[in-house]
Amino acid sequence: MNGNLTFTMVKPAAVADGHAAAILAKITEGGFNIKALKMTRLSKEQAERFYAIHSDRPFFNSLVASMTAGPIVAALLEKENAVEAFRNYIGATNPADAAEGTIRKLYGKSIEANAVHGSDSDENARIESAYFFSEFERF
Ligand code: CMP
Repeated sequence: MNGNLTFTMVKPAAVADGHAAAILAKITEGGFNIKALKMTRLSKEQAERFYAIHSDRPFFNSLVASMTAGPIVAALLEKENAVEAFRNYIGATNPADAAEGTIRKLYGKSIEANAVHGSDSDENARIESAYFFSEFERF
């Protein structure tokens, strides 16, 4: 059975462009309950750890640089079948390929500055949210 939690980050470029509140509103309009929320800034070490699975990819250093360029907004989201539902809701990784009306189509500028991160599995949702939220910060 699929879980009901997923993790998201509004990426630095979208925060810098002033889209954080609109993206959070769109997320709740989509039926996702915000269970935890935090604005913070990743250190280089934190971003490298968060994206460690991509450390061999050619875009890794550039991804880490973009994710540490400014503050992010991290959130733990709840909905039935949350991981898959959220991935569908935000659209394809590359905003150019994302369906009309999805968050990445609306607010993404490039494959790297694609507005939001979304967990790709229940296990990663647990691991990623644990980077940002303690059990006392979840509601
Ligand atoms: P995200 O969902 O945060 O997970 C990994 C990120 O790597 C992805 O979104 C993209 O922003 C970024 N990325 C940069 N280049 C690529 C690429 N060529 N393929 C996939 N992801 C990429």
